Amino acid sequence: MSLFWQSGGSELPSSPRLRILLLGASGFVGGGLWTSLRPRHEVVGTFATRPIAGLVHVDLRDERRLAALVADGFDLVVHAAGLVPLEAAEADPELAHRLNVRPVEVLLDAVRGSAAKLVLLSSDNVFDGTRHQYTEEDPRSPVNVYGRTKAAAEDLLLADGGHLILRIPLVFGRGPWSNTFLARLAGPTTTARTDLVCAPVYLPSLGPALARLWDRKGVVHYGGSDVVTRFELMSGVRQALDLPTRVVAAHGPEAHSACRRPPRLVLRSTRHRLLGPGLDSALAHLAGLPPA
Ligand SMILES: NC(=O)c1ccc[n+]([C@@H]2O[C@H](COP(=O)([O-])OP(=O)(O)OC[C@H]3O[C@@H](n4cnc5c(N)ncnc54)[C@H](OP(=O)(O)O)[C@@H]3O)[C@@H](O)[C@H]2O)c1
Repeated sequence: MSLFWQSGGSELPSSPRLRILLLGASGFVGGGLWTSLRPRHEVVGTFATRPIAGLVHVDLRDERRLAALVADGFDLVVHAAGLVPLEAAEADPELAHRLNVRPVEVLLDAVRGSAAKLVLLSSDNVFDGTRHQYTEEDPRSPVNVYGRTKAAAEDLLLADGGHLILRIPLVFGRGPWSNTFLARLAGPTTTARTDLVCAPVYLPSLGPALARLWDRKGVVHYGGSDVVTRFELMSGVRQALDLPTRVVAAHGPEAHSACRRPPRLVLRSTRHRLLGPGLDSALAHLAGLPPA
């Protein structure tokens, strides 16, 4: 079976060559999108604190610079920048708002009246994790600061209309330069929770999925096929890459974490038929094995 993310036919044959501004290209998700989208599109990517050759600098708080950059004639503005670690957002809600909400207002003002469409990378953390699964129609109820900022940013786009909110779950894999996911497995032991359930998405599948969904409007969910615990995911990645870490099962939040995490986040879509690759094929790809 040829999976859409591996087939090279990551896009419909008629998909046009787009001029894309990719905010946060220096990050984990942005790096994956950069790799996927560059062969078919003209992509201008940005960094903030981690200079990378070929990317341009922008700080989301420099509103004039951000607006000027966006005004440079793009078809798509993909927004994958901001404050992402949940604990950091919880510790500084004002900073989280300044990085995750306010820039979206600036971006909307900047694209208004132009042909550019905004794509916001949002999160399953807009839900509280008490339902079996979540579709685009389900009401949001974030339980942490990060989730609340993502919901607030979504509201801005929804009020404006015409733009796309791509909600994604935990992303795993190897980025071209930023590896915030694999960094969790860097120590001699890796603690992973057995009571947090997710349907994680494999990074290389994200660009091809976006390429199939970019002309939608409103909210779209893109989840992985398999539903697993964090412990199962981390153990699978450890094994696939033969990493020198011991994955230790844990139950309940770490003592020092003040951040609430939704217990079960499974994103499903009623608006399209795309699901990310299953864990086995993703792990085989990560390990460099040929597809089954
Ligand atoms: N990773 C996941 O599992 C996951 C799941 C759901 C949704 N998402 C969403 O995906 C997007 C990217 O997440 P990620 O995991 O790739 O995060 P990440 O690795 O931490 O990357 C964050 C990006 O934002 C940039 N950035 C941070 N502060 C900035 C500022 N003040 N001005 C301009 N740029 C700034 C960073 O630039 P520098 O690195 O150069 O400083 C980096 O490019 C976020 O919107 C996140 O909510 C991620």
